[in-house]
Amino acid sequence: MHLTHLLLALVPVVFAVNTCKVIPIGGGQDDGPNIIDAFDTCKSGGTIVLDKYYVVNTVLVITGLQDVSIELSGVVQYTPNIAYWSPNSYYLEFQNATTFWFLSGNNIHLYGGGTLDANGQVWWDYPNKTVGTAGGSSTLFARPVPLTVGNASNVLIEDLTQIGSPFWNNFVYQSTNVTYRWMNISSTSYSSNPAANSDGWDIYRSSYITIEDSTIHNDDDCVAFKPNTTNTVIRNLYCNGSHGISVGSLGQYAGETDIVANIYVKNISMNNAQNGARIKVFGGSPYPNSTAGGGTGYVQNVTFEDFYVNNVDNPIYLTQCYDTAANVCAEYPSVLNISDIHYINVTGMSSGNSGNVVVELECSPECYDITATGINLTSPDGPGVYYCENVANEMALDFTCTMPPASSL
Ligand SMILES: *[C@@H]1O[C@H](CO)[C@@H](O)[C@H](O)[C@H]1NC(C)=O
Ligand SMILES: *[C@@H]1O[C@H](CO)[C@@H](O)[C@H](O)[C@H]1NC(C)=O
Ligand SMILES: *[C@@H]1O[C@H](CO)[C@@H](O)[C@H](O)[C@H]1NC(C)=O
Ligand SMILES: *[C@@H]1O[C@H](CO)[C@@H](O)[C@H](O)[C@H]1NC(C)=O
Ligand SMILES: *[C@@H]1O[C@H](CO)[C@@H](O)[C@H](O)[C@H]1NC(C)=O
Ligand SMILES: *[C@@H]1O[C@H](CO)[C@@H](O)[C@H](O)[C@H]1NC(C)=O
Ligand SMILES: *[C@@H]1O[C@H](CO)[C@@H](O)[C@H](O)[C@H]1NC(C)=O
Ligand SMILES: *[C@@H]1O[C@H](CO)[C@@H](O)[C@H](O)[C@H]1NC(C)=O
Ligand SMILES: *[C@@H]1O[C@H](CO)[C@@H](O)[C@H](O)[C@H]1NC(C)=O
Ligand SMILES: *[C@@H]1O[C@H](CO)[C@@H](O)[C@H](O)[C@H]1NC(C)=O
Ligand SMILES: *[C@@H]1O[C@H](CO)[C@@H](O)[C@H](O)[C@H]1NC(C)=O
Ligand SMILES: *[C@@H]1O[C@H](CO)[C@@H](O)[C@H](O)[C@H]1NC(C)=O
Repeated sequence: MHLTHLLLALVPVVFAVNTCKVIPIGGGQDDGPNIIDAFDTCKSGGTIVLDKYYVVNTVLVITGLQDVSIELSGVVQYTPNIAYWSPNSYYLEFQNATTFWFLSGNNIHLYGGGTLDANGQVWWDYPNKTVGTAGGSSTLFARPVPLTVGNASNVLIEDLTQIGSPFWNNFVYQSTNVTYRWMNISSTSYSSNPAANSDGWDIYRSSYITIEDSTIHNDDDCVAFKPNTTNTVIRNLYCNGSHGISVGSLGQYAGETDIVANIYVKNISMNNAQNGARIKVFGGSPYPNSTAGGGTGYVQNVTFEDFYVNNVDNPIYLTQCYDTAANVCAEYPSVLNISDIHYINVTGMSSGNSGNVVVELECSPECYDITATGINLTSPDGPGVYYCENVANEMALDFTCTMPPASSL
């Protein structure tokens, strides 16, 4: 063999001028360390090329990137090695979530038409799931997030397929100005064990986030706005099988302040889902150390516009007594305020799983400046019924409210 060929065969990462192309080792061996080397070498102004099939059995904590392009035109597949990932996936300080890949830095462009495959089926089918509930609540069974954009700014992620996520597909964590588009997400189980916590995106402590022109098949939230999500736009999504576009839940922890503000959700097709446009906030609590309500903060300036529902249990759902017993919520109303919420052109048919109730707006105490125009929702049983409670000005709603029965709070 010619000497240069021999050298090439031994060097797993090929370095051109600021281009780091990762050559897979093959044979099912771990490409993780070589991927990390490529990021280290090209972390400033470089391009990382992942154009082949890679097996990853090493947690990817990629930080300090500056002006980096990542071409993911191949397949990155995380091993189904539950014994490795449970204790070693990267722990994030929110709901015990952990991640396979923490991506961090400034001015990052991830693109290429490739696939991130997290082998979710193995996690969904694991016989001993009860040793851990969610994320890293236990180091025996911690289902990680395939891609976390964390402590990052000015990020564009486009044209990727994500399949088989054991947990949330994407986590946007303490970041600003992050755009996702042309994403194709599928968390579909092929056994009787359903996918679990398969949110399309969870956004936390982040601002100026855009998610657009994407398709999501899953069975948890399509997009969830967790505490301190602000200035965010979601548009042109096709969601199937999900739990809706959800604000919250918020206000779970007494002593904590949760803010969700300046959210614009437009042109959503929501199919075969539990909820459409949802806001969920906990009630109050008498206990200063409560972990089941009593947190303060606000939800303000949230618009859902051009929202089409097809076979959705609760097309419009807002509660300020989430997971709080009705008598507790009556005695200790929520201390997280909801105002400036607008529903514009929400149309389609519910599933009938909530009878003919198509709207539930259940505030505690009062929600201010809630408006609804162009609402045309039906149920399979006929015209919709609209439950409202403690909405400050029902005249601003273009439907006729009915007082919900006490049991539905
Ligand atoms: C299931 O988890 C329990 C509790 O941690 C442990 O004792 C047991 O060995 C586990 N079984 C398998 C098959 O991993
Ligand atoms: C996080 O994990 C701890 C320890 O297992 C557990 O007590 C807590 O309930 C978990 N929190 C969530 C939100 O899962
Ligand atoms: C992210 O930022 C927080 C501070 O806000 C820091 O504590 C944490 O170590 C950072 N994580 C990484 C992986 O850089
Ligand atoms: C947001 O990030 C993109 C790169 O993804 C950049 O082109 C754009 O200028 C940034 N916007 C602001 C306001 O910094
Ligand atoms: C989306 O991904 C699925 C696999 O989960 C694939 O069958 C489909 O062709 C992809 N669609 C697009 C538009 O890439
Ligand atoms: C609205 O969203 C759908 C996806 O559900 C998309 O196909 C359509 O192009 C979007 N409309 C506009 C005007 O962007
Ligand atoms: C859409 O969701 C339904 C209900 O969850 C599911 O049966 C169906 O397979 C999903 N479609 C696709 C293409 O994943
Ligand atoms: C949200 O932001 C408010 C105001 O800056 C802050 O007081 C609060 O601690 C933040 N909450 C979380 C969960 O980060
Ligand atoms: C309301 O939120 C939208 C979407 O982020 C934003 O464009 C608009 O400026 C906000 N309005 C106010 C009054 O802040
Ligand atoms: C709150 O504190 C009281 C005593 O001060 C204790 O009995 C209770 O278990 C605590 N609750 C939580 C959720 O920590
Ligand atoms: C209402 O929304 C649907 C999509 O959900 C859209 O096709 C239609 O053009 C919108 N109508 C108006 C009057 O904006
Ligand atoms: C409501 O939607 C139904 C079915 O899509 C349609 O036939 C009807 O004209 C709509 N009503 C109004 C007032 O737009």
